Amino acid sequence: MSSKRELIFITTNSHKVKEIRDFADAESGNITIVHRDYEYPELQLDEIEAVARESANYVREKTGIEDAFFLEDSGLIIPALNGFPGPFSAFVFKTIGNDGILNLMADKKGEARKATFKTVVAFCEAPSKTPILFVGIAKGKIAEEIRGCGGFGYDPIFEFEGAEETFAEMSTEEKNRVSHRSRAFGKLLDYIS
Ligand code: IMP
Repeated sequence: MSSKRELIFITTNSHKVKEIRDFADAESGNITIVHRDYEYPELQLDEIEAVARESANYVREKTGIEDAFFLEDSGLIIPALNGFPGPFSAFVFKTIGNDGILNLMADKKGEARKATFKTVVAFCEAPSKTPILFVGIAKGKIAEEIRGCGGFGYDPIFEFEGAEETFAEMSTEEKNRVSHRSRAFGKLLDYIS
Protein backbone atom coordinates (compact mmCIF):
# COMPACT_ATOMS: atom_id res chain seq x y z
CA MET A 1 0.00 0.00 0.00
CA SER A 2 1.37 3.43 -0.89
CA SER A 3 1.07 6.07 1.81
CA LYS A 4 0.39 9.33 0.04
CA ARG A 5 0.72 12.52 2.04
CA GLU A 6 -2.06 15.07 1.60
CA LEU A 7 -1.12 18.69 1.34
CA ILE A 8 -3.77 21.40 1.46
CA PHE A 9 -3.37 24.26 -1.04
CA ILE A 10 -5.51 27.31 -0.29
CA THR A 11 -6.31 29.43 -3.34
CA THR A 12 -9.23 30.55 -5.48
CA ASN A 13 -7.09 30.31 -8.63
CA SER A 14 -7.75 27.08 -10.55
CA HIS A 15 -4.74 27.72 -12.86
CA LYS A 16 -2.42 27.69 -9.87
CA VAL A 17 -4.01 24.43 -8.68
CA LYS A 18 -3.40 22.79 -12.07
CA GLU A 19 0.23 23.91 -12.17
CA ILE A 20 0.92 22.77 -8.61
CA ARG A 21 -0.90 19.41 -9.07
CA ASP A 22 0.90 18.65 -12.34
CA PHE A 23 4.23 19.54 -10.77
CA ALA A 24 3.59 17.44 -7.64
CA ASP A 25 2.57 14.46 -9.80
CA ALA A 26 5.65 14.79 -11.99
CA GLU A 27 8.16 15.35 -9.19
CA SER A 28 6.82 13.18 -6.38
CA GLY A 29 4.33 10.36 -6.55
CA ASN A 30 3.75 10.69 -2.82
CA ILE A 31 1.91 13.99 -2.53
CA THR A 32 -1.79 14.53 -3.10
CA ILE A 33 -2.74 18.19 -3.44
CA VAL A 34 -6.05 18.90 -1.71
CA HIS A 35 -7.52 22.14 -3.00
CA ARG A 36 -9.41 24.41 -0.57
CA ASP A 37 -11.18 27.20 -2.42
CA TYR A 38 -11.05 29.67 0.48
CA GLU A 39 -10.97 33.36 -0.40
CA TYR A 40 -8.89 35.67 1.77
CA PRO A 41 -8.35 39.40 1.32
CA GLU A 42 -5.51 40.54 -0.99
CA LEU A 43 -3.26 42.36 1.49
CA GLN A 44 -1.49 45.49 0.23
CA LEU A 45 1.96 45.18 1.79
CA ASP A 46 5.33 46.27 0.41
CA GLU A 47 6.87 42.82 -0.05
CA ILE A 48 5.51 39.63 -1.62
CA GLU A 49 7.06 37.70 1.30
CA ALA A 50 5.01 39.75 3.79
CA VAL A 51 1.82 39.24 1.78
CA ALA A 52 2.31 35.44 1.73
CA ARG A 53 3.22 35.21 5.42
CA GLU A 54 0.40 37.47 6.66
CA SER A 55 -2.14 35.79 4.37
CA ALA A 56 -1.19 32.41 5.87
CA ASN A 57 -1.54 33.81 9.40
CA TYR A 58 -4.91 35.31 8.47
CA VAL A 59 -6.21 32.02 7.01
CA ARG A 60 -5.03 30.04 10.02
CA GLU A 61 -6.69 32.43 12.47
CA LYS A 62 -9.95 32.80 10.53
CA THR A 63 -10.47 29.12 9.70
CA GLY A 64 -8.86 27.50 12.75
CA ILE A 65 -7.31 24.99 10.35
CA GLU A 66 -5.08 22.51 12.17
CA ASP A 67 -3.80 20.47 9.23
CA ALA A 68 -0.67 21.48 7.38
CA PHE A 69 -1.49 23.84 4.51
CA PHE A 70 0.21 26.22 2.12
CA LEU A 71 -0.75 29.19 0.04
CA GLU A 72 1.29 31.39 -2.25
CA ASP A 73 1.55 34.93 -3.45
CA SER A 74 3.12 35.89 -6.75
CA GLY A 75 4.05 39.05 -8.54
CA LEU A 76 5.68 40.48 -11.64
CA ILE A 77 8.65 42.77 -10.99
CA ILE A 78 9.85 45.16 -13.69
CA PRO A 79 13.12 46.91 -12.75
CA ALA A 80 12.67 49.62 -15.41
CA LEU A 81 9.42 50.56 -13.60
CA ASN A 82 11.16 50.55 -10.18
CA GLY A 83 9.81 47.08 -9.36
CA PHE A 84 6.21 47.83 -10.34
CA PRO A 85 3.71 46.10 -10.15
CA GLY A 86 5.44 43.77 -7.60
CA PRO A 87 3.22 43.17 -4.54
CA PHE A 88 0.42 45.12 -6.26
CA SER A 89 0.31 42.74 -9.25
CA ALA A 90 -3.25 41.56 -8.62
CA PHE A 91 -4.66 45.08 -8.37
CA VAL A 92 -2.69 46.27 -11.40
CA PHE A 93 -3.82 43.29 -13.46
CA LYS A 94 -7.46 44.01 -12.57
CA THR A 95 -7.15 47.69 -13.37
CA ILE A 96 -4.78 48.27 -16.32
CA GLY A 97 -4.11 44.64 -17.31
CA ASN A 98 -1.58 43.41 -19.85
CA ASP A 99 -2.37 46.24 -22.28
CA GLY A 100 -1.63 48.76 -19.55
CA ILE A 101 1.75 47.17 -18.79
CA LEU A 102 2.61 47.12 -22.51
CA ASN A 103 1.73 50.83 -22.71
CA LEU A 104 3.97 51.62 -19.74
CA MET A 105 6.77 49.69 -21.45
CA ALA A 106 6.26 51.27 -24.89
CA ASP A 107 9.50 53.29 -24.82
CA LYS A 108 11.58 50.55 -23.13
CA LYS A 109 13.99 48.66 -25.37
CA GLY A 110 16.44 45.78 -24.90
CA GLU A 111 17.68 45.38 -21.31
CA ALA A 112 15.00 47.78 -20.08
CA ARG A 113 12.35 45.14 -20.89
CA LYS A 114 13.76 42.72 -18.32
CA ALA A 115 11.26 41.36 -15.78
CA THR A 116 11.12 38.79 -13.01
CA PHE A 117 8.26 36.67 -11.77
CA LYS A 118 8.40 35.81 -8.09
CA THR A 119 6.38 33.34 -6.03
CA VAL A 120 6.51 33.07 -2.28
CA VAL A 121 4.99 29.87 -0.87
CA ALA A 122 3.99 30.11 2.80
CA PHE A 123 3.79 26.70 4.49
CA CYS A 124 1.99 26.32 7.84
CA GLU A 125 3.05 23.03 9.32
CA ALA A 126 1.04 23.28 12.54
CA PRO A 127 -1.06 25.95 14.28
CA SER A 128 1.70 26.74 16.77
CA LYS A 129 4.36 27.30 14.09
CA THR A 130 5.05 30.45 12.13
CA PRO A 131 4.77 30.01 8.37
CA ILE A 132 7.92 28.90 6.53
CA LEU A 133 8.56 30.75 3.27
CA PHE A 134 9.95 29.31 0.03
CA VAL A 135 10.84 31.70 -2.79
CA GLY A 136 11.06 30.94 -6.50
CA ILE A 137 11.91 33.32 -9.31
CA ALA A 138 11.85 33.18 -13.09
CA LYS A 139 13.76 35.76 -15.11
CA GLY A 140 12.67 36.97 -18.49
CA LYS A 141 11.42 40.00 -20.34
CA ILE A 142 8.21 41.77 -21.24
CA ALA A 143 7.15 40.82 -24.77
CA GLU A 144 6.43 43.50 -27.36
CA GLU A 145 2.82 42.33 -27.64
CA ILE A 146 0.31 39.92 -26.10
CA ARG A 147 0.99 36.37 -27.38
CA GLY A 148 -0.58 33.02 -26.57
CA CYS A 149 -3.82 31.91 -24.99
CA GLY A 150 -2.64 29.41 -22.36
CA GLY A 151 -1.90 30.13 -18.73
CA PHE A 152 -3.35 33.15 -16.95
CA GLY A 153 -2.62 36.67 -15.73
CA TYR A 154 0.58 38.15 -17.12
CA ASP A 155 1.58 34.94 -18.94
CA PRO A 156 0.84 36.37 -22.43
CA ILE A 157 3.37 39.21 -21.96
CA PHE A 158 6.19 37.31 -20.19
CA GLU A 159 8.96 35.62 -22.17
CA PHE A 160 11.16 33.37 -20.08
CA GLU A 161 14.88 34.15 -20.62
CA GLY A 162 16.25 32.38 -23.65
CA ALA A 163 12.79 31.24 -24.77
CA GLU A 164 11.06 32.44 -27.92
CA GLU A 165 7.65 31.88 -26.39
CA THR A 166 5.66 33.66 -23.75
CA PHE A 167 4.44 31.56 -20.80
CA ALA A 168 0.99 31.68 -22.45
CA GLU A 169 2.45 29.93 -25.52
CA MET A 170 3.86 27.09 -23.39
CA SER A 171 2.08 24.01 -22.09
CA THR A 172 1.68 23.70 -18.32
CA GLU A 173 4.46 21.12 -18.39
CA GLU A 174 6.83 23.51 -20.19
CA LYS A 175 5.99 26.41 -17.87
CA ASN A 176 6.43 24.15 -14.85
CA ARG A 177 9.97 23.25 -15.94
CA VAL A 178 11.14 26.83 -15.38
CA SER A 179 8.49 28.83 -13.54
CA HIS A 180 8.71 30.87 -10.35
CA ARG A 181 5.80 28.84 -8.92
CA SER A 182 7.32 25.40 -9.57
CA ARG A 183 10.68 26.58 -8.20
CA ALA A 184 9.11 27.81 -4.95
CA PHE A 185 6.85 24.76 -4.61
CA GLY A 186 9.78 22.44 -5.46
CA LYS A 187 11.58 23.84 -2.41
CA LEU A 188 8.55 23.00 -0.26
CA LEU A 189 8.55 19.45 -1.67
CA ASP A 190 12.26 19.12 -0.84
CA TYR A 191 11.55 20.38 2.69
CA ILE A 192 8.78 17.89 3.44
CA SER A 193 10.35 14.85 1.77
P1 IMP B 1 -1.60 36.50 -6.87
O1 IMP B 1 -0.48 35.64 -6.44
O2 IMP B 1 -2.81 35.68 -7.18
O3 IMP B 1 -1.87 37.64 -5.93
O4 IMP B 1 -1.17 37.12 -8.25
C1 IMP B 1 -0.96 38.49 -8.49
C2 IMP B 1 -1.22 38.77 -9.95
O5 IMP B 1 -0.21 38.15 -10.72
C3 IMP B 1 -2.56 38.25 -10.45
O6 IMP B 1 -3.10 39.18 -11.34
C4 IMP B 1 -2.20 36.98 -11.17
O7 IMP B 1 -3.06 36.74 -12.26
C5 IMP B 1 -0.78 37.26 -11.64
N1 IMP B 1 -0.01 36.03 -11.64
C6 IMP B 1 0.31 35.26 -10.57
N2 IMP B 1 1.02 34.19 -10.95
C7 IMP B 1 1.15 34.30 -12.29
C8 IMP B 1 1.75 33.46 -13.26
O8 IMP B 1 2.31 32.39 -13.00
N3 IMP B 1 1.66 33.90 -14.53
C9 IMP B 1 1.05 35.07 -14.87
N4 IMP B 1 0.46 35.86 -14.01
C10 IMP B 1 0.50 35.48 -12.72
